[in-house]
Amino acid sequence: MAYTIHDLEDYFKLYRRSIRTPRKFWGEIADNFSWNQKWDNVLDFNMTEAKFSWFEGGKLNITENAIDRHLVNRSKKTAILFEPNDPNEKAQHITYEELHLRVCKMANVLKEQGITKGDRVCIYLPMIPELAISVLACARIGAIHSVVFAGFSASAIAARILDSDCKLVITADGGFRGNKTIDLKSIVDEALVKCPCVDKVLLVKRTNTPINFQDGRDYWMEELLENSSINNTPEIMDAEDTLFILYTSGSTGKPKGMVHTTAGYMVYTGYTFKNVFQYQEQDIFWCTADIGWITGHSYILYGALLNGATTVLFEGVPSYPDFGRFWEIIDKHKITHLYTAPTAIRSLAKENIEWVEKYNLSSLKILGSVGEPINEEAWHWYDNHVGKKKCPIVDTWWQTETGGILISPLAGITPTKPTYATLPIPGVQPLLMDDKGNEIEGEQVTGNLCINFPWPGIARTIWGDHERYIDTYFKAYPGKYFTGDGAFRDEVGYYRITGRVDDVVIVSGHNLGTAPIEDAINEHPAVAESALVGFPHEIKGNALYGFIILKESGENRDHNNLRQEINKLISDHIGPIAKLDKIQFVDGLPKTRSGKIMRRILRKISEGDFSNFGDTSTLLNPEIVDEIVKGKV
Ligand code: PRX
Repeated sequence: MAYTIHDLEDYFKLYRRSIRTPRKFWGEIADNFSWNQKWDNVLDFNMTEAKFSWFEGGKLNITENAIDRHLVNRSKKTAILFEPNDPNEKAQHITYEELHLRVCKMANVLKEQGITKGDRVCIYLPMIPELAISVLACARIGAIHSVVFAGFSASAIAARILDSDCKLVITADGGFRGNKTIDLKSIVDEALVKCPCVDKVLLVKRTNTPINFQDGRDYWMEELLENSSINNTPEIMDAEDTLFILYTSGSTGKPKGMVHTTAGYMVYTGYTFKNVFQYQEQDIFWCTADIGWITGHSYILYGALLNGATTVLFEGVPSYPDFGRFWEIIDKHKITHLYTAPTAIRSLAKENIEWVEKYNLSSLKILGSVGEPINEEAWHWYDNHVGKKKCPIVDTWWQTETGGILISPLAGITPTKPTYATLPIPGVQPLLMDDKGNEIEGEQVTGNLCINFPWPGIARTIWGDHERYIDTYFKAYPGKYFTGDGAFRDEVGYYRITGRVDDVVIVSGHNLGTAPIEDAINEHPAVAESALVGFPHEIKGNALYGFIILKESGENRDHNNLRQEINKLISDHIGPIAKLDKIQFVDGLPKTRSGKIMRRILRKISEGDFSNFGDTSTLLNPEIVDEIVKGKV
């Protein structure tokens, strides 16, 4: 792709241009892609109404850009390198040619099942090639994919299916994860009891787990594929047609279905993949995220394939069959780029260093970090033991809502600084705001991170609830996109993300809104009220601490049993990732006179910091604070 930034001077020059003439800048980047019809207008927007239209009038199909375009020069190149959960099962090298064929066939299957442009398809699959192929097949026919991470519970799937009114679900009999087999099909069966909108389930065979086959609703994908044609002409989409919905937790209420559209998302993920990772033709790129999250969508799939890259799809976990698994994969496939989360780094750093040293990691050129702040110790461990001090680390800051990376070093170009995401990508205009709505200028300052101008990858709305989209991201600071994160800007303009400033807690890199978890806890018959906060955790970054008031009926129950029941309830409602690490039963919660829980105090208690609770004069029940401190678990 043209428009690759080669050095720091280039970066600054381009950055200035991107601010001065953003439309020209983005138009030139978009020129690197293949369009059925060029756009009339690069950008139209209104930050107050949260309306964004990029490349209006343009017509295209993203899979033509991600697959067909490479058939000329890269047909025999591996597009997807699949590494199964079990190291004894053979890896699969799926070439661009084969990917094209498999996507075309699956696209035809979907069409034959009655799926047409604009229909929503829920994909609930393990990390197997069929997951990538299903996503791309939807995009090819213009169906909107909604991938649900295969660790979510039946009720979490049902809520997502209902919210976007999905017609069809693609799932598998089961999934392998380490030494566990997860019965995906039975979870889907349970979810679908509540989802009359779904009339078909397409089933991929992976684990051979016995399943409950519902005639007339369930179909084996394998059988449908056998009879489907290999020829498929992609649906020509308008630039702003919806490409996918991906749910993310909010600090309140139900999950938000973030909507991403075709052209802007394509341009943004393709451009950032190339520049942040400085991807070269022979490189082998491994992002360890799951495709169920935005990182997987944007950088395992779209961004990588748009650049004709070889992208690794790993089904398993870092600890199976042993703690050398990541390093073994790097050695085996001569991986050049490793893009992972601080939680994974911290959990592997605590194991014996021999696991790392046993393998040859000399193929590595670039390391990436994403999803949560990376602490200094983990950064250095990654740098010393994995990168052997010769691989730049790109600490990439972004969000489901942003579609792609917004602040990050460009590998090998931007000088790195541990724990800093450093500088904005050209085209991105960050700024810091104080609580009163004023911009904080200058150096060595901390504030609420906002973005002052749209970029092509910005989400367009929350599915079915544009008001909520405006309220969440565009109300706090009129005319700006508010990220929900705090950040520090140092003396050279580098940004360091300090963490969430709302009631979202990032646990092991997963965004968890506290309110939906509290709602789940409050369903327990013995619970009267609950309040959750995040507290620092050595491996997970943050973990959840629950302060729970029991009803009288709960008081005499065994507290350990209650803790287990509460966590089971959370697992059932949301998924095991949202379980609480600590539960303290309390007689009351610190509340203001208007009934608002003072979470700041609970946060301090959960961290074990009892030194200064700040102004507690507005508390209705200040005496409760001492009591909670005494009972800390
Ligand atoms: O708090 C920030 C944190 O993750 C949030 C976004 O989560 P999600 O939408 O799930 O997307 C994760 C993958 C892009 C952000 O608001 N976050 C993400 N990357 C970083 C980060 N915090 C610090 N440093 C990062 N590099």
